[in-house]
Amino acid sequence: MISFVVGFVAQTDLTEAYAHLVGTRPGSSRRGVARAVYRQLFATVASKGCPQVMAIMVPINRASMAFHQHTGFRPGEQNTIDPDGLKLVKDYSALAEHRELLGKGLGDGPRIGCGPATRAMKN
Ligand SMILES: CC(C)(COP(=O)(O)OP(=O)(O)OC[C@H]1O[C@@H](n2cnc3c(N)ncnc32)[C@H](O)[C@@H]1OP(=O)(O)O)[C@@H](O)C(=O)NCCC(=O)NCCS
Repeated sequence: MISFVVGFVAQTDLTEAYAHLVGTRPGSSRRGVARAVYRQLFATVASKGCPQVMAIMVPINRASMAFHQHTGFRPGEQNTIDPDGLKLVKDYSALAEHRELLGKGLGDGPRIGCGPATRAMKN
């Protein structure tokens, strides 16, 4: 295996999918393999009726953020605080555990990062 992605459809909102974990073997990085496995993820969740896919970033992981930016993920509307030029959701995982919440619309799907499941997680 040179690359993998673990994704799922939200149990609380069957129209919202998550890219949970992605990895590429270091010797195979920057050859487009994670991009290829994401294309497969997008096709799979779209075929299950999900118009958008979400990803939640730890802001220290700049490579992951660059990869997700490259593959079309954009910050959700909830992203508010802006330390070091990053738009993060404050206290998303726990107190002082800010996260970048990203979303990508699939096909003609709705604008990203603002679906009911995401809002529920925040409330
Ligand atoms: C993030 C990760 C999955 C990217 O895998 P990859 O197979 O190297 O990614 P790709 O080759 O498909 O990259 C596609 C594009 O994303 C961007 N990108 C990927 N890795 C990048 C990096 N380290 N720095 C900057 N941009 C990067 C680039 O724009 C790249 O296109 P380019 O190489 O033509 O410039 C890989 O670095 C990894 O396994 N990291 C460790 C695990 C991890 O942190 N996973 C994410 C959190 S779960």
